[in-house]
Amino acid sequence: MEEYYLGWIEQVEKSLSRWGEPSLIITPRVIAVTGMGGSGCVGDYIATLAGLKHGYRYPVIVVKNYRLPSYIGGNDLVFVISYSGNTLETRHIYREALERGVETVVITSNGFLEEDAAGRGIPYIKVTPGIAPRTALLEMMLAALNVLDSSNLTIVSKEDVIKLKNFLKETMRDAYNLAVEIAEKIYRNSKNLVIATHSPLEVIAIRGKNEFNENSKIPVKIDVTPEWAHNDIVGWEKPLTTDWQVLAVKDPDDTRGMKLLEFMETIYRDKGFPIIEIELKGSNMLEKLVYGSLVIGLASVKLARLRGIDPLKTTSITRYKEAVKEILGEP
Ligand code: PA5
Repeated sequence: MEEYYLGWIEQVEKSLSRWGEPSLIITPRVIAVTGMGGSGCVGDYIATLAGLKHGYRYPVIVVKNYRLPSYIGGNDLVFVISYSGNTLETRHIYREALERGVETVVITSNGFLEEDAAGRGIPYIKVTPGIAPRTALLEMMLAALNVLDSSNLTIVSKEDVIKLKNFLKETMRDAYNLAVEIAEKIYRNSKNLVIATHSPLEVIAIRGKNEFNENSKIPVKIDVTPEWAHNDIVGWEKPLTTDWQVLAVKDPDDTRGMKLLEFMETIYRDKGFPIIEIELKGSNMLEKLVYGSLVIGLASVKLARLRGIDPLKTTSITRYKEAVKEILGEP
């Protein structure tokens, strides 16, 4: 599975090779990025990047559900993202988007969504099939960013993606080594894991939690300051167990973020929790988010290896996907 993450450079190259298409003529009121799990995470990245882009006029909302918010309608743009093309919640969203006449773009590698979008002539981007959905993050995210750039709704430009490719080439080895080190520390500490970070890096904490859940098969708590300082901090006064370790993710260029995180670490230290740190590399937020996600993704696979667990298998999700057919029904 490591090779899927090491293949992120190829995912960027593939995305660049088709940059410019499809291009839409639309001035959306709202952009909704929808999907579940590894596909749903794409929305978190796009919303973060849009929120940080100076002068960006289009609100981006993330929908990880089987229903579109009531306010999404004809003037909006919906990305329907499902790696397999078959996830039931996402198929419900797709049907709702079509019923409401919303401009819809599908990103998938296969399955119902590919066939249906092709049949109806709905714009879709087919990503590389045959890998774990969560490891296709970069290709799915760049597919959506490509459509936005090609439609004059730019959050990330082609030049930024070329820079990202070079950045990944320079840092891949370093990210791998750091991931191995982190996995060994987490394994040795053998305590419950908290991923702690400062805003606007919550997306790395969310993604990291999902990665350690799915690849390493462990539950994870997320702490994001400054909101953390208004609730979680009190929970740390009297936790039921003190058996925690912290993976702290920080952006060294964000002075206030670093200070907020330093304060956070004093609380963990008082409790005696071991802290493992990741300092993000990169010259812009896209590179930093990708670097952090890469390190954590690889670390979660390495932790699975140390525990003698198959990182690829997600038996419980398969079980849920059977059960949800009864619960939600066919769209
Ligand atoms: O990474 C995974 O395997 C999961 O989180 C899936 O992404 C999730 O179950 C949704 O499936 P899909 O991405 O095929 O829509």
